[in-house]
Order: sequence, then structure tokens, then C-alpha cells
Amino acid sequence: MLSLHKDHQNLVLLAFSVFVVLSIGVAIIPAYQMEEYQPIPGQKDLTVSERKGLGIYISEGCVSCHTQQVRSIEMDKTWGERPSLASDYYYSKQRMDIWRQSPSLLGSERTGPDLTNAGNRQPSDQWHLLHLYNPRLVVEASVMPRYSWLFRQIDTSSVRDDDVTLPRGITKMEGGDVLVAKEDALHLVAYLKSLQQFSFEDPPSTDFIPVLPKEESDNGTSSSSKKSIGASLYQNNCAACHQGTGRGVKGAFPPLAGSLIVNDKNPEMLIKIILMGYDARQEYGVMSPFADKLSDEDIKAIADHERSSWGNSVPKVPIETIIRLRDSISKLQ
Ligand code: HEC
Ligand code: HEC
Repeated sequence: MLSLHKDHQNLVLLAFSVFVVLSIGVAIIPAYQMEEYQPIPGQKDLTVSERKGLGIYISEGCVSCHTQQVRSIEMDKTWGERPSLASDYYYSKQRMDIWRQSPSLLGSERTGPDLTNAGNRQPSDQWHLLHLYNPRLVVEASVMPRYSWLFRQIDTSSVRDDDVTLPRGITKMEGGDVLVAKEDALHLVAYLKSLQQFSFEDPPSTDFIPVLPKEESDNGTSSSSKKSIGASLYQNNCAACHQGTGRGVKGAFPPLAGSLIVNDKNPEMLIKIILMGYDARQEYGVMSPFADKLSDEDIKAIADHERSSWGNSVPKVPIETIIRLRDSISKLQ
């Protein structure tokens, strides 16, 4: 019999195995999964100042009262245009230093509002500085603590040109004194202003250059020119999210290469998704409908392109299927 309470070797061995299993499960596997995430196309990196601000946000413990996650439930709609995605936290892949990865500051407590989109709600430097110095100056009933040590009080005559000062009236400074924001305060405000939910509803058109497929020299038989129409329609309507390679963006947009839906012999689901949009899974964002933007012929060209590219190879979609589905969908509405 395996004795655990008398045999110290077994006891140590068991404790060690539990430690190893837990470490693999909660640290190593998630770290590997994280590695695969990619930024949403067009998403900006944090600047040096914003990154320093992130450090101050951490050291001041702002995360104890503020979340940065929009959940896919009704009450969270106030905080962002869409639920947060893994790719939104892409910045955390950059390391703070060699020992530490930047944490994703999701938070778990909302004594104050969620800050996912705070930079869009409140784009003014002066507002943020006053609010940090004393929240009650701008929000009367605020319970947020003061962060007055991020400022120094000096004589007006010793203010330098590049100092950022707070208005004397509202901060009620005595004599000739004035409040100057320390560098930390400025970094923190830069970080707060960078908190803007990146919208992919109107994907940035400058970030990818549509690659029009070369016209075949063989007098453009109808099949090859149809294919290039499909390819350029795909490039202009779908590639910003699903990418020109059809591989998508892990953590935001699913791949179409090898997709079961795209490769289904029965194309109905694919056509319905293009017509009506799609929001089936939490780990991906929302795809908006294309019924009003694309004609039946356009949809056929795109669907055929997707079904014959990136290793996908399934028969073309009959135009009748698209006409029938568009009809039945418009009757539903
Ligand atoms: C004790 C809890 C608490 C802490 C700690 C705290 N806050 Fe707040 N915060 C609040 C509350 C409550 C509000 C809402 C009232 C207000 O606007 O002042 C708020 C509001 C805000 C707002 C305005 C958000 C908006 O959408 O209008 C910002 C920005 C903010 N806090 C940043 C910070 C930063 C940066 C820190 C850390 C330096 C911090 N908070 C620490 C409770 C807190
Ligand atoms: C704004 C970004 C965006 C654009 C543009 C977009 N999609 Fe999507 N698409 C998505 C997202 C997000 C999903 C996953 C939705 C979910 O599962 O919750 C998706 C899912 C799909 C799927 C299902 C794939 C699978 O295997 O699950 C297909 C097929 C698809 N899109 C085709 C298209 C086509 C064709 C176009 C162009 C006409 C297009 N999409 C344009 C974001 C987009």
C-alpha cells in the first residue's frame, strides 16, 4: 500500500507532482496559447510614455477599483462598442523587463467605471490631471482617492516653459504658488488617453493595399476573370479582418482557410453568414452583415474565391442558392 502519512518520500513526491501539474496547467500552457495571439490589424503599440504610464497605473494600484474588460452582457454595453477580445491585450506580450511580461489589467472590481474606452470618453489632458490631483474638483461626489503626490507645488516664478501647470483658480493655491504635474502624472495621463477600444467595424483601409490579381494573358476566359473579380472583392470587403492569406487573426477573426463552414459541400451557412453577419463565438468579434453592400453576383464571386483558395477546394456556389437565401431572409425581416 502507498503510505502518504508515514513515508516522507511519498509525501514530498506527491506534493512535487501536484506542483508540476498545476504549473503546467495554469502557467505554461496558457503562456503558449498567448504566444499565438496577433494584434488586430491597425492596432497601435503603446508609446514609451504610455508604457511608463502603464507602470504607474500598476504601482498606484488603480486596478483595485477599475476594470479594463467589456464583457458580452447587456450591462457592459456602456463601457465599449463591443466585448473585449484576447487581441485587445496584445500589448502585454511586450515585456516590461527581462523578468516580467506586462500584465493585462483586466481587474475584477468596479468601484469606479471600466476604463477600456476611457480615452475616448475623456480626451482632455487637463481634465485627467485635475481629476488625478483631486477627483472632487471635477466630479463632485467622486470617492476616488487623490493622487496629489503626482504633482508638486512651486512658486509661479520658477515655472519652466515645458512645465504643465494646473489652473490656479480651481486648485485654490495660496499666494503665488502653482501646481505642476510631475513626469509620472504626464505618463499616466498619456496611458489613460491611450485607452481606446479599437473598432474594426470600419477596418482601416490604409493598412492593407488591395492586391489586384494579375490579369491572365490568355484573353481572359470567363472563369479566370471571375476568379480575379472574386479575389479583389474579397480583398476589399473581407481581407481587413480575415486577411489576404485567409488565415484570420488569432484572438479576433477566424481563419477561412480550412474553415468547415467555407468547405462545407452545402454552401448555405457560408452564404447566410455573408448576408446576415455572424456572432456565434465569444473568442471572436462580431461580423456585420453584407446583404446591403454586395449583390448576388458579388457574393457568388467572393464565395467561389474563398472555396477555391488557400487549399480550400469545393464546388462553386450556384447563383440560385444565393437568390433563394436572400429572399427567405428578407421575408423573415
Ligand atoms: C477607491 C477606488 C478608486 C481608485 C483606487 C481609483 N479610482 Fe479612478 N475612479 C473611481 C470612481 C468611484 C470613479 C467615478 C467618479 C469619478 O469620475 O471620479 C473613478 C473615475 C475614474 C476615471 C474617469 C473615468 C470615466 O470614464 O469618466 C478615470 C480616468 C480614473 N478613475 C482613473 C484612475 C486612475 C489612473 C487611478 C490610479 C492612479 C484610479 N482611477 C484609482 C474610483 C477609484
Ligand atoms: C469586421 C471584420 C470582418 C469582416 C470585414 C468580415 N468578417 Fe467574416 N467574420 C468575422 C468574425 C469576427 C467572425 C466570427 C464570428 C463569430 O464566430 O462570433 C467571422 C466569421 C466568418 C465566417 C465563418 C468562418 C468559420 O469557420 O467559423 C465566414 C465564412 C466569414 N466570416 C466570411 C466572410 C466574408 C466572405 C467576408 C467578406 C464579404 C467577411 N467574412 C468579412 C469578421 C469579419
